Amino acid sequence: MNDSVVLAYSGGLDTSVAVAWLKETTGMDVIAVVVDVGQGGDFNKISQRALNAGAIDCVVVDARDEMANDFVVPAIRANALYEGRYPLVSALSRPVIVRHLVEIARRSGAKSVAHGCTGKGNDQVRFEVGIVSLAPELETLAPARSWGMSRAELLEYAHGHGIEVEAAVDKLYSIDENLWGRAIECGVMEDPWVSPPEDVYELTAQRETTPREVVISFEQGVPVAIDGEKLNLADLITSISEIAGSYGWGRIDMVENRRVGIKSRETYECPGALAILLAHSDLESITLERDLAHEKLRLEPRWAELVYDGMWFSPLKQALDAFILESQKSVTGDVRLRFSPGNCTVLGRRSKLSLYDYGLATYDPEDTFKHEYAEGFVQVWGTSLSTWARIQGVDSSR
Ligand code: ARG
Repeated sequence: MNDSVVLAYSGGLDTSVAVAWLKETTGMDVIAVVVDVGQGGDFNKISQRALNAGAIDCVVVDARDEMANDFVVPAIRANALYEGRYPLVSALSRPVIVRHLVEIARRSGAKSVAHGCTGKGNDQVRFEVGIVSLAPELETLAPARSWGMSRAELLEYAHGHGIEVEAAVDKLYSIDENLWGRAIECGVMEDPWVSPPEDVYELTAQRETTPREVVISFEQGVPVAIDGEKLNLADLITSISEIAGSYGWGRIDMVENRRVGIKSRETYECPGALAILLAHSDLESITLERDLAHEKLRLEPRWAELVYDGMWFSPLKQALDAFILESQKSVTGDVRLRFSPGNCTVLGRRSKLSLYDYGLATYDPEDTFKHEYAEGFVQVWGTSLSTWARIQGVDSSR
């Protein structure tokens, strides 16, 4: 029996060539694995393409709920935005795929796993660092990093091996999609001065003109209902994405710092992710105690950076998860969003655990705040500065 290699397969040109190339170059049996993380597509067709390219098997895994519950939930709770803007779409799906590659490799006795990433991106890092974290005994192969074929040679190789090549958009851009959003790279967008052509957008083409309000309800930091209707998380995300996207809202155009040191122009459309993160962080404004809120704000960028950098399974990331999970006990309540063309804003928030105390906040006669305590508090708070001013401050030093 031949040794086998488990390949993360997308159905695109690179991974299709990878099937044939791995088989030819290593002599191993190739088991293709397609993980459905909400990218859409015809999985029967994709499987057939893997088999046509020479795979001995193609396993399709429905991981939409797993992606939502195990990977998007922690990201929502962490208000995760890499470099303050990117909701980690691709970075969240790679560890899901890694889990399945490892599981299938163990089940089938394969000693190797493979991915179709090039040497310039983050995804190779996420695959390989993820795999060593879960299964250090597995060897990882990265054919697209080793074959040294140009685009033209790749197409020629595909033709020579009976691999059909897909539509025009595939050739113009590199696209990665899942239920948390869509990333579009390459083509004319490689010049960061050039604005992304309108035709790159699929989720955020504006159709609606009449503004609309939507209430998102959260339980312990997890969105559970839209306008009072309970939904499973993957469906809830899809539904919010459709609403937000129909107002042409949810686009991101940024130059980001990849783990490998390259600055890269990225275009994203993440209408659902951005709306949910906006609502979630707003709900925290009434449900998190002050020090907890501030400490969490300091840790959030670190969490996003670790996940971006492929450290999903690392002990530091797990420790931060524990902190974040603990913080979410009180993050239950509703947020009222308003969508209008090109816009999404928060109109209001409420929670049965809200720390907003009307009596303390109001300037009306219902005021319960002890004004007389403020004088002493402010004096004590400023004591070190008044001492410094008297002895070392600007005036006394000259
Ligand atoms: N720059 C983004 C990231 O690193 C998106 C990557 C998209 N991947 C792709 N193969 N097109 O997470």
